[in-house]
Amino acid sequence: MSASLNSTEARKETEKLRAEIERHNRLYYVEAAPEISDRDYDALLKRLEALEKQFPELAAPDSPTRRVGGEPLKGFENVRHAVPMISLANTYNKEELVEFDARVRKLLGGAPYSYVLEPKIDGVAISLRYENGLLVRAVTRGDGTTGDDVTVNVRTIKSIPLRLSDSPPDVLEVRGEVYMTRKGFAALNEERQEAGLEPFANPRNACAGSLKQLDPRIVASRPLDALFYGLGECSAVYETHEQMLSSLTQYAIRITPKYWPCDEIQEVLTQLDTLQNMRHDFPFEMDGGVIKVNQRDLYEKLGSTAKSPRWAVAYKYEPEQAETLLKEITIQIGRTGVLTPVAELEPVQLAGTVVKRATLHNEDEIKRKNIRVGDRVIVEKAGEIIPAVVRVVAEKRTGKEKPFDMQAACKALGINPVKVAGEVAWRIDDLHHPAMLKRWLTYFASRNGMDIEGLGESIVEQIVDAGLVKGPADLYDLKKQQLLGLEGFKEKKAQNLIAGIEASKSRPFDRILFALGIRHVGSGSARVLAQSFPDIEKLMTADIQTLEEIRDIGPVVGKSICDFFQTPANRKLIERLQAAGVNFAQTAKAESNEFAGLTFVLTGTMESMSRDEAGEQIRARGGSVTSSVSKNTSYVVAGEKAGSKLTKAEELGVKILDEAAFLKLLGGKPASKSKPGQGELF
Ligand code: IVH
Repeated sequence: MSASLNSTEARKETEKLRAEIERHNRLYYVEAAPEISDRDYDALLKRLEALEKQFPELAAPDSPTRRVGGEPLKGFENVRHAVPMISLANTYNKEELVEFDARVRKLLGGAPYSYVLEPKIDGVAISLRYENGLLVRAVTRGDGTTGDDVTVNVRTIKSIPLRLSDSPPDVLEVRGEVYMTRKGFAALNEERQEAGLEPFANPRNACAGSLKQLDPRIVASRPLDALFYGLGECSAVYETHEQMLSSLTQYAIRITPKYWPCDEIQEVLTQLDTLQNMRHDFPFEMDGGVIKVNQRDLYEKLGSTAKSPRWAVAYKYEPEQAETLLKEITIQIGRTGVLTPVAELEPVQLAGTVVKRATLHNEDEIKRKNIRVGDRVIVEKAGEIIPAVVRVVAEKRTGKEKPFDMQAACKALGINPVKVAGEVAWRIDDLHHPAMLKRWLTYFASRNGMDIEGLGESIVEQIVDAGLVKGPADLYDLKKQQLLGLEGFKEKKAQNLIAGIEASKSRPFDRILFALGIRHVGSGSARVLAQSFPDIEKLMTADIQTLEEIRDIGPVVGKSICDFFQTPANRKLIERLQAAGVNFAQTAKAESNEFAGLTFVLTGTMESMSRDEAGEQIRARGGSVTSSVSKNTSYVVAGEKAGSKLTKAEELGVKILDEAAFLKLLGGKPASKSKPGQGELF
């Protein structure tokens, strides 16, 4: 192995590995069409790390191994922008857009021009500087003249190339927006609440807070991403905005997923409605549209005010809010015992769905917003998934509204709430309390967990109330006879449940790691752990340092894992589950081989699962997933808004499956969704 390599060979292999890893980063993060498994990717990265360790002279600032790591920062250095980062004039009003156009027309004195409309991403502005194709600096907007150097943090965002491809200009500053995906935001907030921390108010705050972290490893664990739409200093000239965008794509820089060239302002107004209708299809928060003159050579003529350019304007959509009645506040028990107050609402239409419940986060939040039972409240969707109560409509109070007492509400449920020092959340003191046990068993049996068919919330309730099960391990001792004594259980139903429990014993390793309910370990971290340790024994004996060295496992998660395995009751549980025959080790084989020899290409978006999840389902059946369509492709799975890959499949006569047909091929069983909070709040 590397011990026998000389330094020339090592250099060659290092370069090859770097190029290979960056290619996979691009396939995974930019094109969303991975070619290799996470495990194979990790193996490449590990090999590169080993080489760089053995031959320190080969270390390079643009190595993919440098994406995470590095020492925590003491503070951020101030950097002056070569070209100031000005902002945009905002309007909520279409007439003002027509006025904007009239001004442009007048200033240009007859020169032909057109527009480009782009989504306005609600994130944190960032400027990346590339010199000779290498990322040298990432700076926040700051006051527009100087910003914070957040390079180490930005390096952890994997869709941002450390090295550009395809002969970029010598100096290229690209400007865009770092954001947190809605899905990632919801998961992060759930984790924070579980940890007793204050949830972030919205994805933008969560993103800004993440970028300001002094420890890049924490930043690496946050679901950040970025898109680019403009330039700072640049040694190349692009005639139009569209040309600039297409060049950025060539250099492997991600641009907005959709934009509309428009010949005139009326077309912009129409497309703004198209954009608004798509608002919820974007994975990021989008709060409007940005209208830009397409011809970059006219920018100078149009000029700027001190604050904003005259060649662009932002049109903002009103935030989607609704007013309704808060009927009641109930208590929800989280999977690790956190008690969350939930607003039970008079159903109201909001952002395309009917909202019946909203999270109130914690007691402090209720006090801060002075929310009372019986209030008229304004609800808003903070992320895509969980609506929140923004404020009370105080002027509609009648005097009959009742203040909420968290402790009393818990006591009424027979729950004794305890406050952990330094946390805002209340927790249940007794993890064996039936309500807690029900919550845990439901989670244990859920699709992302042991996927026990037939064991949903109501059956869990029955078996716990009947005293048949006092913990997850008892499930494996259940006998058909015991179930037959329960209401609604006939021979067949009892047999199916026993069979479902039996089948769960051979789930892949990551499932039991998720099902154990270790704080901070969701399905993503469970997968990473299952790939990093051959079996539970190795994981249980890993120290915190070993855990922290793993990609995507930060200090908080690491500590939580160590704490979990050091608790005797948890060790006992694992022993019992092992004795029952539950799988606690990596299985190298695919779950089945029904797709052996079949190659799939995934394109567009599906409703029931992400492309990642679809890929997992295919690989679990022995099939493979590639990024480009050829005549050797067996199937192209085309979701909504499929693009050129679908066209190519049609040209080549490759079989095309829509989402329904794909689900059918999977055996009618959709992939488990990794949406947080499912089966919990909404
Ligand atoms: S162009 C010279 N395009 O919104 C200014 N900005 O409210 C160039 N933003 O400052 C900005 N999406 O931080 C532009 N597609 C987009 C954008 C965008 C989001 C941000 C940006 C800007 C702010 C204005």
